[in-house]
Amino acid sequence: IFISFALILVAYLLGSIPTGYLAGRLLKGIDIREHGSGSTGATNVLRTVGKGAAIGVLLVDMLKGMMAIALIKVAYNYLGSDLLPPSWQDWLVMIAALVAVLGHSKSVWLKFSGGKSAAISLGVLLVMNPFVGLGTFATFLLVLYFSRIVSLSSLSGAIAVTIFMAIFNPSIPYLLFALLAGVYVIVRHRTNIQRLMAGKEPRIGQAVT
Ligand code: G3P
Repeated sequence: IFISFALILVAYLLGSIPTGYLAGRLLKGIDIREHGSGSTGATNVLRTVGKGAAIGVLLVDMLKGMMAIALIKVAYNYLGSDLLPPSWQDWLVMIAALVAVLGHSKSVWLKFSGGKSAAISLGVLLVMNPFVGLGTFATFLLVLYFSRIVSLSSLSGAIAVTIFMAIFNPSIPYLLFALLAGVYVIVRHRTNIQRLMAGKEPRIGQAVT
């Protein structure tokens, strides 16, 4: 039980690493939360810092989520039912996944602000179930290709994730994660939704007006 709690804490701390904020501070000397959409995610880094930084932030943010879940899978490999009974294992993955996603947008280092949790959710999913991760990512890329609007693509992924989970891994904890993370990512995009409805959402790389 102690190790399980430690793994959940580590998941939160990994999620909390303020990648986008650091990119703004170190590369441009700005607080990215005061620029563009105010998000610390890769999309806003692209808008306010630059392309290379945005790609780096995207990859590191995905990696944070991947590591949070990979650590648990490694712990199971070594400890098996000493860590938790098998029937509880998916629940630990689900809680750690949610906590990592939450940590990204409610970072302990940024007074509980942060990004919109799309990239980290993708990282988490890729390790939870690669098919679900790839399906969600493909949905994101497809919508991005046609619309050039990142938020619309993230929102589409947030809806598609539950469908892919129902197809590829319909266990209760995993389905619950997909549903909760999907709803959470949608809620984090509420200002984007308002801009989308007003026809004012910028295309990728454009400024927020
Ligand atoms: O994942 C974030 C993206 O969907 C939107 O970011 O900065 O345009 O609000 P932003």
